[in-house]
Amino acid sequence: MSERLQGKVALVTGAGGPGIGRAIARRFAAEGAAVGVLDIRADEVAETVRQIEEAGGRALALVCDLRDPQAVRDSVRQLGERFGPIDVVVNNAAVMPSGTLHETSLEDWDAVFAVNVRGAYLVSREVIPSMLERGKGSIIHMASVTGMLGLPGIAAYSATKAALIGLTRAMSTDYARYGIRVNSVSPGTIDTPMLHDFLAKQRDPAQRRREFDEMHPIGRVGLPDEVANVFVFLASDESSFVTGANYTVDGGLSVKGEQPQD
Ligand SMILES: NC(=O)c1ccc[n+]([C@@H]2O[C@H](COP(=O)([O-])OP(=O)(O)OC[C@H]3O[C@@H](n4cnc5c(N)ncnc54)[C@H](O)[C@@H]3O)[C@@H](O)[C@H]2O)c1
Repeated sequence: MSERLQGKVALVTGAGGPGIGRAIARRFAAEGAAVGVLDIRADEVAETVRQIEEAGGRALALVCDLRDPQAVRDSVRQLGERFGPIDVVVNNAAVMPSGTLHETSLEDWDAVFAVNVRGAYLVSREVIPSMLERGKGSIIHMASVTGMLGLPGIAAYSATKAALIGLTRAMSTDYARYGIRVNSVSPGTIDTPMLHDFLAKQRDPAQRRREFDEMHPIGRVGLPDEVANVFVFLASDESSFVTGANYTVDGGLSVKGEQPQD
């Protein structure tokens, strides 16, 4: 255990399941932060908290549906009461319906914005007043390369990730003078349940998986811990002059050009 986040209180949404959120929560705790583990799935929240405590860290289970403003308010209050004012927020929770725009139902469109964008808004607005009072804070939105590039078949999800990149820029400008830094992270494809669910719906999952690996110049998809590492930096005081940034963690995907084929 090192101490890059010693003394900090962090809230990580979507930190249930064995995806990126849990990896971030575990890394934060290992770096000395007290972590609020927020997710809609009670059993998975309990598992993340168990893993953190087993490793000697501090965590609080927050079972919460981010679509519910009162539940979000209660979770933020509980975390503050248990560990003190919140220094770091990671808006990581998301859902990912697939489909091109005309294939996306109105229900799916509203549902993906309700979690991915409105959820980030609800959490952020609850913590910002106390960050303003204390003159410090780090908010990190989980975006995606899909918010920067056109990737096929996930139109509504991609729009939410572009919204989070825009929100990062707006918020960082509004709050920079008050000590609150706001950044986003845009991963390429990462090996998590979200990827497995997506592959399971494809005609040839094994072939699609190979395509995902090959799509990244590094030659493979990423791992949750490789994303979590960047969050540790952005949460820590090491990134004290970094705000308004969108960090890609994508094995080179977003800067790759294509060679013409003959
Ligand atoms: N896996 C990838 O390839 C990839 C790539 C780029 C970006 N991302 C982003 O990284 C983040 C984590 O993705 P992941 O792959 O670990 O996915 P995941 O599905 O494992 O994690 C998402 C978490 O959000 C939670 N959640 C969903 N709706 C919620 C709600 N209403 N209230 C509270 N919690 C809710 C889920 O229970 C789940 O634990 C997401 O923002 C995703 O968009 C993932």
